[in-house]
Amino acid sequence: MSVFPDLRLRRLRKTEPLRRLVQETYLSVGDFICPVFVTHGRNVRQEIPPMPGFEQLSLDHLAREVTEIAGLGIPAVLLFGLPEAKDPQGSGAYAGKGIVQEAVRLIKRETPHLVVITDVCLCEYTDHAHCGVLLDNGVVDNDRSVELLARTALSHAEAGADVVAPSAMMDGQVAAVREALDEAGLDDTPILAYAAKYASGFYGPFRVAAESSPQTGDRRGYQMDPANVREALREIELDIQEGADMVMVKPALAYLDVIARARQEFDEPLAAYNVSGEYAMVKAAERLGWLDGRRATLEILTAIKRAGADLIITYHAKEAARWLRGEG
Ligand code: PBG
Repeated sequence: MSVFPDLRLRRLRKTEPLRRLVQETYLSVGDFICPVFVTHGRNVRQEIPPMPGFEQLSLDHLAREVTEIAGLGIPAVLLFGLPEAKDPQGSGAYAGKGIVQEAVRLIKRETPHLVVITDVCLCEYTDHAHCGVLLDNGVVDNDRSVELLARTALSHAEAGADVVAPSAMMDGQVAAVREALDEAGLDDTPILAYAAKYASGFYGPFRVAAESSPQTGDRRGYQMDPANVREALREIELDIQEGADMVMVKPALAYLDVIARARQEFDEPLAAYNVSGEYAMVKAAERLGWLDGRRATLEILTAIKRAGADLIITYHAKEAARWLRGEG
């Protein structure tokens, strides 16, 4: 018997049409969620150095941005806000006329079909930049923080947010948000839970963008240890029990195994967050001429999809949408 093992799999790789026929994973613009940073003030377009192509935008520049995003066929944005003032309680997060609340109203007016997802956290609003409020000993007070997160989510939904995404990694935050929404008659507002969110070194550029680096300590007391995967499944399971409609693994790239496990174990829609540091790495290497940014980006996004993510939150959303349309 003669075998040519090196040839057997290559038969189906011979030509582009053949390769297309056997392609297993497809990236679609319909999977993308594009982050947007809104800031106080007027006529602000503040570049974010470690995130080329991203800016903090004041409300007067927001309409143009969301119109562009919607025009590219991207179905959703994820909103982050930079308030004028920060305080220990993060009161800007749940202010009726807070920056995110105003941004939501504007986006729903300008581009009503764009799905507006709001990040529900206190870290951009507290002066210490932790994701919740602190006890005297500097530890984040879980239950008091959960109350404020529920208040924040409710104020976003009242402003018109289509989906709220609690991201503070406090225990019980999803149940509290669900209860607050239901009590207010907003029982049809879905929750995207940042369920398995790791204490990651890949959030660095975001913390420049959101001005949210902890003033003391770090987030390891509430975000997950990168060494753990079984614990991620417990986090996801609990969030689903608490009422999450969709769950998330974050970051994406160093956690493809977590995405794959989550896909195996749960049927709820699964989001992956291709975070700021993952974006910055590609942009930096591209700038240095060390890799082909477009190829690397499409490969990364395809891999996230292949691992099992249904939705991808990514800073590459706009450029990838253009590439998928055959532009640029
Ligand atoms: C918390 C939040 C963070 C990110 C998204 N939501 C920061 C953090 O946990 O420190 C990071 C996203 C990224 O790096 O792109 N509000």
